[in-house]
Amino acid sequence: MIRKRSMILFGTFLFVSWNAVLVLLLWNRDPVPQIENVQPNEDVPANDVIQDVLKMADAFEAELERQKDILLQIKDQKLHQLFPRRSSNHTRLAPPTAAAVIPVLVMACNRVTVRRCLDKLLQYRPSETLYPIIVSQDCGHQDTAAVIQSYGDKVTHLKQPDLGDLPVRPEHKKFQGYYKISRHYRWALNQVFRTLGHTAVVIVEDDLEVAPDFFEYFRALHPLLRSDPSLWCVSAWNDNGREGFVDPGKSSLLYRTDFFPGLGWMLVKELWDELEPKWPTAFWDDWMRQPEQRKDRACIRPEISRTITFGRQGVSLGQFFDKYLKFIKLNSEFVPFTKLDLSYLKEETYRVNFEKEVYSAPLVSYEDVKQGKLNGPGPFRLQYSSKDSFKIMAKNLGVMEDLKSGVPRAGYRGVVSFISRGQRIYLAPPPGWTQYDPTWS
Ligand code: UD1
Ligand code: MN
Repeated sequence: MIRKRSMILFGTFLFVSWNAVLVLLLWNRDPVPQIENVQPNEDVPANDVIQDVLKMADAFEAELERQKDILLQIKDQKLHQLFPRRSSNHTRLAPPTAAAVIPVLVMACNRVTVRRCLDKLLQYRPSETLYPIIVSQDCGHQDTAAVIQSYGDKVTHLKQPDLGDLPVRPEHKKFQGYYKISRHYRWALNQVFRTLGHTAVVIVEDDLEVAPDFFEYFRALHPLLRSDPSLWCVSAWNDNGREGFVDPGKSSLLYRTDFFPGLGWMLVKELWDELEPKWPTAFWDDWMRQPEQRKDRACIRPEISRTITFGRQGVSLGQFFDKYLKFIKLNSEFVPFTKLDLSYLKEETYRVNFEKEVYSAPLVSYEDVKQGKLNGPGPFRLQYSSKDSFKIMAKNLGVMEDLKSGVPRAGYRGVVSFISRGQRIYLAPPPGWTQYDPTWS
């Protein structure tokens, strides 16, 4: 009780001081310049005092948010003691507070090029407190450890302790790497959620480079991920995000997808609690794509990827990399996602509007698309009605043809959206789609 009261007093004190700082600051400030006239790289005369006060204000603000967080947690816990929540699948979670801490977990092993990943993360990270970077290293590789260590306290360096080979059946010997990755994921996520007590995390692999608005994107989607039980992840990756297949004018456009994209993705602790007990010994990403795990949940993904991969030399070797991955376009413009209205992504709104958009688009033939004979701005709908027709059209038009548990990459309710010769195409099943066929693979 005393502790609670002193916390409230402390909070009030902070609140009052914060307002005092704000009043002082506004009082002494020059008139606000017109945004249009400010060039980002122009040398605006620096006013050190204002800079200092602003920095202080930022620190105050972060501290206040943390206090609010703690108070809300206390309140939440009290409510829970009074009204325990029934546990069920797909529950709506408590809304997050404005300044949730969203750590970034970097999975590393034996590639010193993890530097490229870390440099970009550090370059774009807007706040050290709100986005702690945790590098979890497997493989015990000394040179890589030295690179990670060279970042000092800007990152936390964890080491997966169990470096031995895993027992695998003889025909899986060549897949030992996938077993190790899976073991590492389980260990690292347990560290993040159980040992360090975080409530959400963005996972990045050491061969990913992030876009300037990477942090902004995840912050903006965090409330939606927590509040919408039909979502289980937010991913930075568009599987069909190759140059020429996305609309460069639509960098703020986001989608729902039934395909788990991985490659820079956010999950919350509640999902980890659900998955951890049955976490697979290998091939964790394809396991996630199975109906028993996905349970009809979707991920948010962008039109233009907020990550690219530069890892040609990896566990799965280079063929896939040279054919598709190296052509993925990385978004270069900062989109202020936290200031945009993202309510169009809510499940029902999105589903209804998406279906209207897709199925009101005129039906066109494969030949017309292929030969560039489409008239008008689009969008156009191209229909597939079997696994084979999907695969043939996807392959010939340059989008990913593979299906995992029946779901096409980047697909939503069977529909794959992409640009062909500057026009929007929806590669779609016939109207009235109800479910995926997991035998399509
Ligand atoms: C592919 C996926 C990757 C997924 C993996 C497991 C793509 C482009 N990549 O890996 O997202 O996690 O399959 O199914 O689709 N690592 C370890 N321990 C090891 C070896 C690797 O922790 O012994 C780490 C790496 O540091 C990296 C991650 O695992 O962060 C993936 O390894 P990588 O070599 O890049 O394999 P991919 O073939 O890309
Ligand atoms: Mn990789």
